[in-house]
Parts: sequence; C-alpha cells; structure tokens
Amino acid sequence: MTSRLPGFYRHSLDERLALVREIANLSESEAQVLREHSGFCVQAADRMVENAIGVFPLPMGVAANFRINGEDVLVPMVVEEPSVLAAASNAANLLRSGIGITTESTEPIMIGQIQVLDFGDIETTATALRKCADSLVQRANDVNPRLLRRGGGARRLEVRTFPETAIGPMIVLHLEVDVCDAMGANIINTMVEALAPDVEDISGGRVRLRILSNLADKRLCKATGRVPLDKLSRGDWDGREVARGIVEASVMADVDPYRAATHNKGAMNGVDAFLVAAGQDWRAVEAGCHAYAARGGRYRSLSRWWIEGDELVGTLEIPMQVGVVGGITKTHPVVKVVHKILGYPSASRLGEIAAASGLAQNMAAIMALATDGIQRGHMSMHARNLAAEAGAEGEELRKVVDLMRQDRDYTPAAARTALATIRGNG
Ligand code: MEV
Repeated sequence: MTSRLPGFYRHSLDERLALVREIANLSESEAQVLREHSGFCVQAADRMVENAIGVFPLPMGVAANFRINGEDVLVPMVVEEPSVLAAASNAANLLRSGIGITTESTEPIMIGQIQVLDFGDIETTATALRKCADSLVQRANDVNPRLLRRGGGARRLEVRTFPETAIGPMIVLHLEVDVCDAMGANIINTMVEALAPDVEDISGGRVRLRILSNLADKRLCKATGRVPLDKLSRGDWDGREVARGIVEASVMADVDPYRAATHNKGAMNGVDAFLVAAGQDWRAVEAGCHAYAARGGRYRSLSRWWIEGDELVGTLEIPMQVGVVGGITKTHPVVKVVHKILGYPSASRLGEIAAASGLAQNMAAIMALATDGIQRGHMSMHARNLAAEAGAEGEELRKVVDLMRQDRDYTPAAARTALATIRGNG
C-alpha cells in the first residue's frame, strides 16, 4: 500500500475517490458513503444530540504522502480551510525520507479529578487520603472490571493540596487510569463519581467536582520528522536558507506567546482536521494541547525545529485523548469508512497519525511563512472558490484555477475572464 500519490489534486473527485477506494479496498457502498455521506440521516442526528434540526456537511479530503514509522497511510481530513490538505500532503512528501515521520506514545493514562472541600487540617486530611490511596484505586477498579481484564484500569491516586484558594483550603485528587483503546471520558467520570462517598468518609470533607482532566499530560504523542536540506530548495530559495527560516519561525513561537498561538493553530489545523474525520472529540484534544503549551507558566510552541548536519529536524509533542472504542467510531457511517482507510488503527496509532498530521501541517505553514509568505498559496487555493463562483464546473474548475495561477490574479473578474477563455468566448 502506498500513500504516495503524485498529482492527486489534479484528478477529478471521482478519480480521486476511485484511487482511494482501490488503495483502501473499499466496497462500492463504502465509497458511496464518503461521496454522499449516505447512511447518516437526520434520524441519526436526532438520536445523537438534543434539539437536532438537521446535519452540517463539510468537505472531506485525503492528505497524501504520509509515511509514519515506515508505514504509508492515507490521512483523511475534514476541514473548511482550502489550503490544509494540499499543505499537509506537500510537507508529508518532504518528511517521507527514510522511515518517514517517527512517532512514540506514552501509555494511555488519563486523569480523573475529585475536588474536596470543608475538611479539617489540610495536611492531616491529605495524609489520611494518601494512606488510603491503594484502597481507593482498588475501589475504582471494582467499578470497571472489564477494563482490568483488557489490561487497563486505575493505576494510582495522587493527592494535591491547595492551602489557600478564594473558597478556602482545597484538596484535588488525581486518579490515574489506563483507559486502553478508549478516549476515556466515560470510564474516568464513572470511576471518580463512584469514589466520591469513600473520599468524603476518609477526608471528613465534602466532594464537589468529579470529572476527567483534559490536560492529559500523562497521555502524550510525539512525532519527529526529518528532511534533507537539499529537498527544501524551492524557486530561488536554497534549502539551507529555507531550513534557517523554519528554525527562526520555531524560535519566535517559543519566545513569543502571540506567535505561539498562531503557530500552534497551524499545527492544530492538521490535528483537528484528522480528528474530525476519525470521529474524535477534537475539542478535548484542543483544550489539552493549549493547556500543555502553557504548562511551564508561559504559553509556548508545541513544536520545535532545528538543523542537524544536513537535515532539518522537527518534533511535535501533544497530549492525545483519542479512542477507537466508544464514541461514534463504530456507529457513524463515514467515520467507520475512515477507520477502514486507516487500517483500523489502535488508539495510540490514531493519536500518532494526528500528531504526524500536526507536525506536517506546522512545517508547511512555517515553511511558507518563512519564504514566499502564506498568501500566495492561500490565494491559489481560494481561486477554486472563485472559479466555482464564476460558474466553472467539473474539469473547467481546474483549468480556470491553472489560468489564474499562471496570471497570479486571484480576483472574481480574473476567474470570469479565465472561464470565458476556456469556453472559447473570451
Ligand atoms: C492558518 O490557518 C494557519 C497559519 O496562520 C499557521 C501559522 O501562522 O503558522 C498559517
């Protein structure tokens, strides 16, 4: 199986779908699900959320060229921003050398929080809770014996003290749970709710909140990519100069939170677009990533780029709360096909694909910013919308865009002129 698809964007939508169908061995009806999002009806929407009034389609594409840990993978993405798929595919092509992007994940440990208030002496209470940590962990595991059988389960309990808050002394317990292939929210929330009465007995206090933390800093994914400097040459730009620009962009994002926010947004363009396609709670991952970016007390970049010999090297490390059991992964018709395209990944593999997408997307963005600027690429993508607005259809779309690119004129008037030229009446 290869994800290397040169000129993929030049094919018609039907040709692209046929290619993906062949590569991922999709049936006719599965391909149809992607094309028409058939199978997802308003009745399904009505079952999923309250107050449903309809469904909201977004474009889904496939980012090509990704090789992760030596395995090629087509990366489906759902996103409204025109340039994301092209940018991810271009960067993934540069990051393909050797075994491609390498990734690593920690164990899938999620954190559940229990807030304790109105106890006696804070240190005495914390000591009492620490003494009972093992039995509380055991109690949490009694709630979910199936998780234990799957090799997961509650692992440890940490007692954190906040002696002075606006509402008096507070203790916050952290229950760390290996959630295996689940995202973990239901598992964690059920456990911490079940522990609350015992915690009240032991502490003599009152439990208020019982909920998972989206700062999943024990469940991390790291993607690392390398590009030979000579591969980075583009136009008048020498590869080493392009790499230097990427490093300078990386350092700016590290020192300046205003830039870090935009830099990280670029990475999240790849992460989120993939997570939406894969049926994940992307808001949880977003929240976790930004909190993780600020873990040292200052909001910083989630990625880092540097030059090592004749290579540009980049890493992106992010908390990754994703699952392949539960949620909509086995029920949403489009998400089911996406998981088939991905080869039915484990949760950690899925998280690693997300991190790799983020790394590629981040690289594409800062490479453009550090050289020609972002607008050139954005405008040429925008040309497609202008071409459609001018009335171009099917094959005409690509031809109009090509003419606009050639003239570097991305205005509605240029789209109309190009269309007239193609139709032979310009
Ligand atoms: C736009 O969606 C994302 C960028 O702003 C990211 C960046 O500035 O690195 C281009």
